[in-house]
Amino acid sequence: MARSVVVGSGSYLPARILTNDDLARMVDTSDEWIVQRTGIRQRHIAAEGEFTSDLATHAARRALENARLTPDDIDLVIVATTTPDQTFPATAVAVQTKLGMTHGAAFDIQAVCSGFVFGLTTADSMLKAGLARRALVIGAETMSRLLDWTDRTTCVLFGDGAGAVVLAREEGDDPNASGILAARLRSDGRHQDKLYADGGPSSTGTVGHLRMEGKEVFRHAVGMITDVIEDSFALTGMSAATIDWFVPHQANIRIIDASAKKLGIADEKVVRTVALHGNTSAASIPLALSVAVSDGRIRKGDVVLLEAMGGGFTWGAVLLRW
Ligand code: UT7
Repeated sequence: MARSVVVGSGSYLPARILTNDDLARMVDTSDEWIVQRTGIRQRHIAAEGEFTSDLATHAARRALENARLTPDDIDLVIVATTTPDQTFPATAVAVQTKLGMTHGAAFDIQAVCSGFVFGLTTADSMLKAGLARRALVIGAETMSRLLDWTDRTTCVLFGDGAGAVVLAREEGDDPNASGILAARLRSDGRHQDKLYADGGPSSTGTVGHLRMEGKEVFRHAVGMITDVIEDSFALTGMSAATIDWFVPHQANIRIIDASAKKLGIADEKVVRTVALHGNTSAASIPLALSVAVSDGRIRKGDVVLLEAMGGGFTWGAVLLRW
């Protein structure tokens, strides 16, 4: 039986840090409000001339190093992003070129904050179907370019960054072997107007700015997240007790903690990076994964639960053995 195994991970954060106090000098907000309502203390902001594909390429190189592989070993590049370098071509082909690859296939996935979970599931399906052998799955964002920096209800929430994993097809029948165990993806377009960009090539001919009804997103988030996770538990026989790590999308500490509590996941199993990264949309999960791998928390054989929810709405969960 074919499985898709994570064989490496890496991440990249732009050098510039924007603190809550910096933001309080730009809009009517405070460190106290941001920390209390979101758990965010700072976020990274890409430099002028630094594009999503640059962030993605740095993260990809680190993931390849971690996997002891080279771009020659990869035959699929998927970039999950809401902030592509250009309307087209895909940011993934820019990454492919920056990695020096002229072989394989590269494309983007657009599922906003759920993009990494959608990308990982797509790569898993392609690997299992024999369409590729080793994939780079990257979440990369320059959300700072999509923000209205005069809107305090959104500009304090997001940040830039990238994270990547290398996923490899492996064969074998061992039920305890590493690999993706289950994935569950959902979307419901009736909620399009709750989190969106007010522009696009086909509608306004502009990029637009991110707009969000935060309270409405919040109201739906915990229920949607816990539903797909319970489905993944049912599919695998896993439970809150048997997983080792919960690596949720990092949008708001209150959503993360409420979801963990509702599912009965012990506090020490929850990986939290929102304080230092803010909400980096599709990059948040691979960034958090990379942090927890490099600090020695996530180890080979650990069962890891990933979850995301975002614009669309889209939401999903992936359960895997590291
Ligand atoms: O990754 C995609 C998914 N996105 C999310 O998961 C985000 C989900 N939503 C949230 O995280 C929260 O709803 C927010 C953090 C966006 C907002 O928190 P909240 O507790 O829902 O606050 P609120 O929107 O109800 O606002 C409370 C008050 C309002 O003032 P009034 O009307 O009570 O006078 C806002 O105008 O806080 C005010 N406010 C602010 N005050 C200081 C809104 N933004 C700010 C701000 N600084 N930055």
